[in-house]
Amino acid sequence: TPVVLHTAAELAELRARLTAEGRTLALVPTMGALHQGHLALVSRARELADVVVVSIFVNPLQFGPGEDFDRYPRTLDSDVAALAEAADYVFAPDADEVYPDRVGGEAVPAQPAGPVGDLFEGASRPGHFDGVLTVVARLFDLVKPDVAVFGQKDAQQVFLVRQLITEIKLPITFEVVPTVREEDGVALSSRNRYLNEEERAAAAALPHALLAASHAALHEGVQGTREAGIRAFEQYPLVRLEYLDLVDPTTFLPVPDGHQGPVTVVVAAKVGNTRLIDTENIERL
Ligand code: PAJ
Repeated sequence: TPVVLHTAAELAELRARLTAEGRTLALVPTMGALHQGHLALVSRARELADVVVVSIFVNPLQFGPGEDFDRYPRTLDSDVAALAEAADYVFAPDADEVYPDRVGGEAVPAQPAGPVGDLFEGASRPGHFDGVLTVVARLFDLVKPDVAVFGQKDAQQVFLVRQLITEIKLPITFEVVPTVREEDGVALSSRNRYLNEEERAAAAALPHALLAASHAALHEGVQGTREAGIRAFEQYPLVRLEYLDLVDPTTFLPVPDGHQGPVTVVVAAKVGNTRLIDTENIERL
């Protein structure tokens, strides 16, 4: 089982020791409630570096008012047990270790996500990506990983973290792992545990819509592909579509009509009170 570290000081000591020994470190940032999707990232990390660190921190900065920060699952003991031999260290800091200079008890975002941070997830969740990038930048600074592993499921997060690494020229190899899904196609997510049986079945609307869009993409253009995805939701009265769009993977901006080439389909929907997101890459339109 992994060794659990709680403080920045413990982490600095580990990092100094590894550097002295010439060993590399891979970081897998998470908010815990670990499932097989997270574990796929951890396995990939194991292939890419000598030592694997999984961070577990429910980051208050990336939750908006009225979101699920308070009820987000916190299961450190079973998370550590689930990692078994897969990770060497778990970094589970308190908020004051991550945000030592909180203003009036509140952490403040220090890493603006830029214009793409205001689209899609950012439009539904104002400030979300400023919070994500602030914690990711802080974790990178504390852990100083050689490799960082993220999941494709959060495509916009992947885009923005990659942009952060490139813009400030961090010496980090950025690795992205494909989405791990249940048998009916639903992406594994810590939030799936909020769903009752009926809602869980209806969550298949998201992968169903992505599949419909992928099929349409073979012979239809931007509009037909988007419409095919949106139409799939008609069969799921329990599900409220928030957005479904086609973006250019190099800019994360919606593609214009007539666009040809690779696209990423992004979708978000509410099932009951639970917000779910998913994504799929289409090789070419
Ligand atoms: P969390 O939702 O816990 O996800 C941690 C990592 O696991 C992310 O990189 C996410 O994309 C990946 N992941 C989640 N479900 C997955 C699945 N079904 N298949 C593959 N990968 C999956 O994302 C966050 O936490 C936070 O925003 C964080 C980056 C930790 C910053 O707080």
